[in-house]
Amino acid sequence: NNSKKNSMWDYWTYFAKGIEYTLIITVVSVFFGFILGILLALLRLSKNKLGKAIAVAYIEFVRGTPLMVQVMFVYFGIGAIVQSLPALLAGIIAVSLNSAAYVAEVIRSGIESIPSGQTEAARSLGMSQTLTYRYVIIPQALKNIWPALGNEFITLIKESSIVSIIGVGDLMYQMQLVQSATYKGVIPIFITMVIYFVMTFGLSKVLGYFEGRMKHA
Ligand code: ARG
Repeated sequence: NNSKKNSMWDYWTYFAKGIEYTLIITVVSVFFGFILGILLALLRLSKNKLGKAIAVAYIEFVRGTPLMVQVMFVYFGIGAIVQSLPALLAGIIAVSLNSAAYVAEVIRSGIESIPSGQTEAARSLGMSQTLTYRYVIIPQALKNIWPALGNEFITLIKESSIVSIIGVGDLMYQMQLVQSATYKGVIPIFITMVIYFVMTFGLSKVLGYFEGRMKHA
């Protein structure tokens, strides 16, 4: 059969679709991971004993188990309760929940890096605990946290490849489709690797640019 497609260029739509899914999963998960990460960090820093214990347990457990198992647990676990849970949704939930634990630690260390003199000065000027956090601690902490959050974004571009095991059509999954369709083993892997690198390297350049600008702000 000579009409069979054989050039990798004939499969560019597969790679394009994979890039699209990978970016969607990453962007959505970074967003929810960040929101949930802030809540976890504040809970961990709070004086509420129970809340603190829950936050610590969550963070330690999520960081102490492989993302691959978490993805499968969410997909088949929630899938056993909720009928026909879409794999994409399961993937996004798992990656978001995973990222939140890592982001929480980034935020916590960012907040803890602000010298206590800052809090003492604000409080002695009569600012409440909440106002101190809002106007003194958080703005300074954000400056330290920002680069680490950028790293999390880059990490998720790579780590989201795990969702391919539950059948989400991300870049890693599309790579396998191209392998099966072309009977070529290595070329699709190489192309996929290069695409991942272009995404992470490109993003790190963009983030570096903003970081440079923030230093002068
Ligand atoms: N490979 C790691 C694991 O299996 C994934 C860690 C995810 N890291 C992150 N910063 N969200 O646990």
